[in-house]
Amino acid sequence: MPAVFNNNQSEWRTDCEAVYPKALRMIDDCPTDDLANLQRTLSVHRYEHTLGVAKESIRLAIRFGCAPEKACRAGLLHDCAKSMDRIDMLKLIDGSEWDVGELERSIDSLLHAPAGAVLARLFYRETDEEVLSAIRWHTIGKLGMSKLEKIVYLADLIEPNRKPFDGIDAIRQLSVNDLDHAVLAAAESSVRYVNMQGGTVHPNTLDLIKALN
Ligand SMILES: [Fe+2]
Ligand SMILES: [Fe+2]
Repeated sequence: MPAVFNNNQSEWRTDCEAVYPKALRMIDDCPTDDLANLQRTLSVHRYEHTLGVAKESIRLAIRFGCAPEKACRAGLLHDCAKSMDRIDMLKLIDGSEWDVGELERSIDSLLHAPAGAVLARLFYRETDEEVLSAIRWHTIGKLGMSKLEKIVYLADLIEPNRKPFDGIDAIRQLSVNDLDHAVLAAAESSVRYVNMQGGTVHPNTLDLIKALN
């Protein structure tokens, strides 16, 4: 990771101010049913986070040459299963296309990612495989992530409503010019968080870190 950061987030904020009005128009153009269903099923806080991830995913997509429409869709749907209970999430996952290992199955905060990918297909009629895959991997990451997968993974951590954590300014600053270094810093930060909580870091996240280092 580069040793020197401009720690005041100014470039990130400037970029957000330049792109977010366009991002909001793109979100407004989404099917109103989908927005209404997200708003109905998610908490107020989670819905605000969802809009923040969609805006930030669009910004990153424009910055790093990815389709903003796909980023918008993946950002909006990434946490669509977040309010489901565990049994319903497992029902969605079982028999789906996604392999979900024991560690993910045992932690609700990880389970909503594969469950969300299934729900996005079944309920929100999302058929774009790249979008579904970005939803599926947004919590733990994996080796060989696509640009869209990296964008949603990163946007989830740095969206403007995210409660500040140690290192967020540096990650936001990196996200202006260097997607891979920003994703690496985000993954390292999530490992620190899981370790602090006494949890088990998913091997996918460690693979991601090794690959980007
Ligand atoms: Fe999530
Ligand atoms: Fe999220």
